[in-house]
Amino acid sequence: MKLYSSLASWWPLLSSPAEYADEVEKYWRLLSDHAVRPIETLLELGCGGGNSAVHLKRKCQLTLTDVSPHMLDVSRSLNPECEHVEGDMRTLRLDGLFDGVFVQDAIQYMLTERELRQAITTAFEHCASGGVALFVPDYTAETWRACTEHGGHDGEGRSLRYLQWDWDPDPADTEYVADMVYVLREGEDPPHVEYERHRLGLFSRSTWIRLLEEVGFRASAEACQGTPDETRTVFVGVKARDSVAREPINARSA
Ligand SMILES: C[S@@+](CC[C@H](N)C(=O)[O-])C[C@H]1O[C@@H](n2cnc3c(N)ncnc32)[C@H](O)[C@@H]1O
Repeated sequence: MKLYSSLASWWPLLSSPAEYADEVEKYWRLLSDHAVRPIETLLELGCGGGNSAVHLKRKCQLTLTDVSPHMLDVSRSLNPECEHVEGDMRTLRLDGLFDGVFVQDAIQYMLTERELRQAITTAFEHCASGGVALFVPDYTAETWRACTEHGGHDGEGRSLRYLQWDWDPDPADTEYVADMVYVLREGEDPPHVEYERHRLGLFSRSTWIRLLEEVGFRASAEACQGTPDETRTVFVGVKARDSVAREPINARSA
């Protein structure tokens, strides 16, 4: 996607760390409340531009991963003290284990149950025994609604405004789309417009819980107040001491 490749340097003008402060505080509380061991090390899958990391790194030692080298560069400039590793959350395997694993909006890029299960398995494989994983999808099938959103910021010599239009062409599948329009202005030049479609995954709460438990987590769904008018459903997986990842019960691919 352009936003995470050729347009990645514009990311800080689409989304800023300050917008993440309150929600990250809630996510940290959820992680801490469910953890069986103190969270001293945390792995983030799909860290993007590192906006959540800005807040999380004050609480523990963070390892940040993303499939996009361009987004990792953006995050490195905000979080130079954190380790950054390029990798796909479906297949990433690092040597170490972590007290916690955090997967925020990047989880939306898992489009099928098979992919979601792969990402959950990656989290499980990197959790130390007694560790905890938190998954924060923007929506579940139950909370999804068609909507538009807009925003953006002014930087030094460049500005961005965007319109995001979430809608669902086929309610029968596990995807919806976010049509994104970016208006980019640099220096004195007239703005130019970029468009792209993000395909995003949508799974029911029961699917989430089933996959988490099949992989080996003790799973729960938690209500978490996001923006003032929105309550999110987020998912917590606790890895019981001495548990190992289970094989799929059957092959589930969409
Ligand atoms: C909306 S951004 C994340 C923003 C992030 N929460 C922050 O604090 O800046 C979504 C990110 O998911 C990443 N992503 C998408 N698919 C991925 C995958 N399969 N594995 C790892 N990262 C992925 C993209 O490269 C992008 O950086």
